[in-house]
Amino acid sequence: MIDLRSDTVTKPTPEMRAAMASAEVGDDVYGEDPTINRLEQRAAEIFEKEAALFVASGTMGNQIAVKVHTRPGQEVIAEERSHVFNFELGMAGILSGVTFRTVRSSDGSGHPTWDDISAAYRPGDDHEAATALIWLENTHNMGGGTVMNAEHCAEICENAHKLGICVHIDGARIFNAAVATGSSVVDLTRHADSVQFCLSKGLGAPVGSILVGTEVFIAEARLWRKRLGGGMRQAGIIAAGGLLALEQSPQRLIEDHVNARTLANGLAQLDGIVIDPERVLTNIVIFDVSGTAKTPTKICDELRRHGVFASGWDHSIRMVTHRDISADDIPAVLQAMRQVIN
Ligand SMILES: Cc1ncc(COP(=O)(O)O)c(C=O)c1O
Repeated sequence: MIDLRSDTVTKPTPEMRAAMASAEVGDDVYGEDPTINRLEQRAAEIFEKEAALFVASGTMGNQIAVKVHTRPGQEVIAEERSHVFNFELGMAGILSGVTFRTVRSSDGSGHPTWDDISAAYRPGDDHEAATALIWLENTHNMGGGTVMNAEHCAEICENAHKLGICVHIDGARIFNAAVATGSSVVDLTRHADSVQFCLSKGLGAPVGSILVGTEVFIAEARLWRKRLGGGMRQAGIIAAGGLLALEQSPQRLIEDHVNARTLANGLAQLDGIVIDPERVLTNIVIFDVSGTAKTPTKICDELRRHGVFASGWDHSIRMVTHRDISADDIPAVLQAMRQVIN
């Protein structure tokens, strides 16, 4: 089985399992789990932020960030295909009582410019909800793993701060963005007020995400994690896998990017498929199949019979490379695609 549905499907390595089995643990709600404390400390150091918090998932980290940065009745500006707006089950409305004002990125990358964002900004008055938060996503999942560079992010943060608004980065795959741009995660997130990144995606840990920000922000986030049922006691068992992933995995992400580009180059040769391989800079490959005689759902169903898992919607299919996909798998995927669409 070649599973390209997401980079969340990786299984823990034997080394991770060993680290988890022997993890030193304590009660994290009392702040006494040494493995979690170490993971949070390392994350804060790596991002050069004051503090960090281990959370159950990217969704939990993102939603806690919305909650801490906003008050009910305010507005969040996010790109129209962002994960927080489309795929977190309306939780920002439920938990934080905020609305979204979505913007389109003028170049289609998923990364709005300051001009795109400022056109949507509202100071708030007798009728309009005030903008409280700007939401960035790097890499942009539905944009096809596209990357926002450090200067672009800095410009948005600087302008937002002048208006007194915070910026959060959904950095579920920020390490992929760092590898693709040849920058550090610090460069890509330096001016943002908070960042969420996933241990359980490209980094390959079985569970967990991290929120980083100021001490004040993280102290408040810790209370919301507990309120949401995320105070996880001896969770050092899972944090141990995350710690190993954080230290070791960023170095190998380039392999996933190379595999994704090879896949995109091969797909671009197939009749009826539209993709610009030059735009595939990280581990996400999204391509249009409307020129084939089949729907994305039908193609994905048939790919399964050839042992390949992918996700399909509207006119597109998404394939994501990760640690459990090798360079040798790519020709097999292309061969399966050829058979299915012909
Ligand atoms: C950009 C982005 N943000 C957040 C999430 C949510 O992460 P989780 O599945 O850990 O809740 C995902 C998951 O795919 C994602 O792609």
